[in-house]
Amino acid sequence: MNEPDLSVSLGRLRLKNPVMPASGTFNFGKEYAEYFDLNQMGAVVNKSVMLQPRQGNAPPRIVETPCGMLSSIGLPSQGIEEFLTVQLPFMRALECAAIVSVSGTSAEEFGELVSVLDRAGGVDALELNLSCPNFVDKVIFATDCGLMAEVLQECRRRTSLPLIAKLSPNVTDIVQMARLAEKHGADMLCAVNTFTGMAIDVRTRRPVLGTVTGGLSGPAIKPIVLRMVWQITQAVGLPVIACGGISNGTDAVEFLLAGAAAVQVGTANFINPLAIPETIAGIRQYMLDSGPHSVTEIIGAAWRRSAAGR
Ligand code: FUM
Repeated sequence: MNEPDLSVSLGRLRLKNPVMPASGTFNFGKEYAEYFDLNQMGAVVNKSVMLQPRQGNAPPRIVETPCGMLSSIGLPSQGIEEFLTVQLPFMRALECAAIVSVSGTSAEEFGELVSVLDRAGGVDALELNLSCPNFVDKVIFATDCGLMAEVLQECRRRTSLPLIAKLSPNVTDIVQMARLAEKHGADMLCAVNTFTGMAIDVRTRRPVLGTVTGGLSGPAIKPIVLRMVWQITQAVGLPVIACGGISNGTDAVEFLLAGAAAVQVGTANFINPLAIPETIAGIRQYMLDSGPHSVTEIIGAAWRRSAAGR
């Protein structure tokens, strides 16, 4: 039996398989090394690093919802200095791509982080977290055309590393934002961050989360994200990394068929620490069962079929 080829190319970024953790659900990987061989992953992605150390939001920061999770962590970070000395060496040592997620409170801050990481070496791509919904009193860059363009231009000016723009679903037209990211220098898109939501405790009659609202993730959002990936990949030429409720191989294959070139497993990691290796195994098994030798043959296959009227 021929071993399926799971490798994918996202522009200049080559991955041995299309599966990686979603930023913020995996720290920088160390804890999960107790559960599986991290070298199996296509890439490792850290919790977004900020320029300065910060504590994040006041608790409660997480609440379980039907088929999902609301969180408002507020991007706590040890800051870039600790990242360079502790986290990045760990990520770089893995036999998979190192994608560094960064976030900032201004275009200048994003630019500074990008410059530092460009010089650090051993970074395969930078994911720009433009879309955290939990910055108290701060803007969500990816919901404002002008601000998103400004951050992307600044980052593009500061590095030639592949830039991934992480989009927000909290917009009227996701395709417009994807096109804007393409125009202003993104090499890839990550679709998408979490959906703003809230929960109220009927006993206390108060919002559950310390910040009132948070970001909804998990299987509850999967059909909406699938629709967004479907729309984006037909409108924009950039490779898309799908993120939203992907918990197993079947979910991943759905997103690949919808046009995603790679997938991120997020909330599922909290429920099942083996979600990532199981997702990789699930894609492999799908290919063994249904025929294609290369995973690239299934990317976008659903919309090619749809266009052919089948
Ligand atoms: O609250 C948080 O730290 C979430 C970050 C994100 O969604 O990007």
